[in-house]
Amino acid sequence: MSSPTRWPAEAIWEAVVPDLPGFTVEILPQIDSTNTELMRRARAGRMEPVLLVAEQQTAGRGRLGRQWFSGQEASAGAPASLTFSLGLPLSPQDWSGLSLAVGLSIVQSLHPELRLKWPNDVWLHDRKLAGILIETASLGDLRYAVVGVGINIRERGATGLATPPAWLGEVLPGVDAPQALLRIAAPLVQALKAFEAYGFAPFQARFNERDALAGLAVTLSDGVSGTALGVDGVGALRVQTEQGVKKITSSEVSVRPLSPPPYEHL
Ligand code: BTN
Repeated sequence: MSSPTRWPAEAIWEAVVPDLPGFTVEILPQIDSTNTELMRRARAGRMEPVLLVAEQQTAGRGRLGRQWFSGQEASAGAPASLTFSLGLPLSPQDWSGLSLAVGLSIVQSLHPELRLKWPNDVWLHDRKLAGILIETASLGDLRYAVVGVGINIRERGATGLATPPAWLGEVLPGVDAPQALLRIAAPLVQALKAFEAYGFAPFQARFNERDALAGLAVTLSDGVSGTALGVDGVGALRVQTEQGVKKITSSEVSVRPLSPPPYEHL
């Protein structure tokens, strides 16, 4: 049997609680999905700030109704991927760009080589390393945000994928899921608080510095193609098309680089 993973719950709690009174950290060996669990709690009226970490998810969810597979979690040692959701009451004036701000915070916490693929995938050298799923629930005037993050930590199988996923150990040899979580958690809460106060605008320039699509020929799922020009002050992707600059805001529009390498969702 593998030894239990040691998570830095107390260190995270100490770093976060000054910004988020009432914050707690919960580590579970297994659950269907950390996002599903926090959304269930929110719908039942439980909207307290919490970081919920699962060593294994049995029904992880991705964007656009996709499944999220985390690889061989049951293997020896710390989990092969880091899966967590941060739930907190949030009341920004404008929600546009939230997932971009979250992605930016994560790459800044982890490594200078990581890039962001609009709207919120994390890439390492043109392969997907992490994904973000944000959901919200409302109770009266209160809105609760559930920020779900899945990061490949160790090499995992690529069954059915043309492009194998990237993993964090490629740039941080020996890193494990608890160490990655410790780097990410407190800056992520600070980023969410900054977003709540000031919106996406203060994140725009730093996002564009990490933009994996910048200058690439892209094609959109609505058939339009052009050149990606970075994001504007509300996080919309600007694409130079034959008809002029088009601003993409809908998360339902997927963007594919035309030039190599081919992009594929996990
Ligand atoms: C995507 O790339 O489509 C988003 C993937 C988000 C996966 C994370 S893992 C933790 C949290 N719980 C889930 O069920 N999904 C998110």
